[in-house]
Amino acid sequence: MRTAQLTIDPAFAIGPADRRLFGSFVEHMGRCVYGGVYEPGHPTADPLGLRGDVLGLARELGVTVVRYPGGNFVSGYRWEDGVGPAGDRPRRLDLAWKTIETNAFGLDEFMTWAAAAGVEPMMAVNLGTRGVQEACDLLEYANHPGGTRLSDLRRKHGAEQPYGVRLWCLGNELDGPWQVGHKTADEYGRLAAETARAMKLVDPSISLVACGSSNREMPTFASWEATVLEHTYEHVDYISAHTYYDPSDGDRASILASAVDMDNFITDVVATADHVAAKQRHRRRLKISFDEWNVWYQSRLQADLDRRGWVEAPALIEDGFTAVDAVVVGDLLITLLRHADRVGVACQAQLANVIAPIRTRTGGPAWRQSIFHPFALTARYARGTVLRTEPVSPTYETKRYGDVPVLDTVAVHDGESGELAVFAVNRGSADLPVDLDLRGLPGLSAVAHTTLAAGDDPTATNTEAEPDRVTPRELPAPTVDGGRCSVRLPAVSWNLLRFAPAPAQRPGAAGA
Ligand code: AHR
Repeated sequence: MRTAQLTIDPAFAIGPADRRLFGSFVEHMGRCVYGGVYEPGHPTADPLGLRGDVLGLARELGVTVVRYPGGNFVSGYRWEDGVGPAGDRPRRLDLAWKTIETNAFGLDEFMTWAAAAGVEPMMAVNLGTRGVQEACDLLEYANHPGGTRLSDLRRKHGAEQPYGVRLWCLGNELDGPWQVGHKTADEYGRLAAETARAMKLVDPSISLVACGSSNREMPTFASWEATVLEHTYEHVDYISAHTYYDPSDGDRASILASAVDMDNFITDVVATADHVAAKQRHRRRLKISFDEWNVWYQSRLQADLDRRGWVEAPALIEDGFTAVDAVVVGDLLITLLRHADRVGVACQAQLANVIAPIRTRTGGPAWRQSIFHPFALTARYARGTVLRTEPVSPTYETKRYGDVPVLDTVAVHDGESGELAVFAVNRGSADLPVDLDLRGLPGLSAVAHTTLAAGDDPTATNTEAEPDRVTPRELPAPTVDGGRCSVRLPAVSWNLLRFAPAPAQRPGAAGA
């Protein structure tokens, strides 16, 4: 068995671990809204219908930003259908998910939910079937203080203060032929640029996300980004990226290496954005908004859609995630952190029921899926400066990505508390010994080794009957001796190693 090596030094700083990397996504899709975050009459619901158990789990998950209201849904959505007296809201056909949308939940309910959850709202505007005017109207309703028709309408609906939404997506996945209002890169780029310009006139404090490709396999990938940014670069702050990794074919070695693909995807989008910056002589560099990412058993979607006619809030892609999927999600978070210098926002898709860390039964309980755990622990402990770790690792062969490292890691150092969190994934099917060199951070002791190991029971999932079958467990913390320590990472595992300085050596302590 070969030993891997890791060197952690504060000199190898990548950038601050932006809290916006721990975002999520609430789309009007399946039971994410209806029966997920919102269910009037549920035993835990408040008078507005917000489910208290789901709110509690969203807080525990540590979500910081939530994108709303779609996704594919937004490309046919009329935002004004979802505001005002409940009895006046129209029932509509949602073409994206072949669903009846009741509009019982809309912008004002979402903003109330976001405030209760303590998250930053991130709104998407419809650039599929709509355009500049409707986007500006929505922004005026949300962010203008008052004294205009739409801002006063918001006040009439009970929100005296503007919502102050800072993050806005200019549409969703408009490169995809499945998208209602699908466009060419030039068509979308022009519309996005004009919408961005007008929206920044309404509220110059906002940040805007232009749509990148729906995924890296799109035939137009990279040329889409280049063309869109040629039109929009000066008006936007982020270019989006979306990716889902599908374990349906049972190729475990490949799915465990998904983060290798995400890593290359980020590098490609950064290169494309920087190419446009160079060509147009911009000094300002764009960041990526990775506003949809997750594991998704995509082969199941069509069956869900074929199974029914027009109904309200059907169960759609309610994937039960395995222990292996949790390791993959933990590794995708490691990748996002490692690119903290160029990824400024990231949203796991979605929050409740639809490929989600939180599952519910309508009228029943809510529970944590396996993927909940690496997310919650990363959001909690990845505070401070992200450090490059450059692991030296054995490799293994995969069908999808060729030869890949067994070990993937990132470290985050909190300069204020002196604490260090090391996130590590062992993708291999055997335990992996790792030697850590921490001499660059003298005086640290290990305080915990938390692991979520999938090796023993890779297909285990959490269910309503067994909600805690897949959970992290504690292993003995390793001993640091002379700035070095050795750990053993269980087969197919996600790990969090926490280190802290002795009290006398904490930053600011006398004599430290
Ligand atoms: O998250 C599910 C769907 O996946 C979103 O609506 C869409 O943007 C993506 O293709």
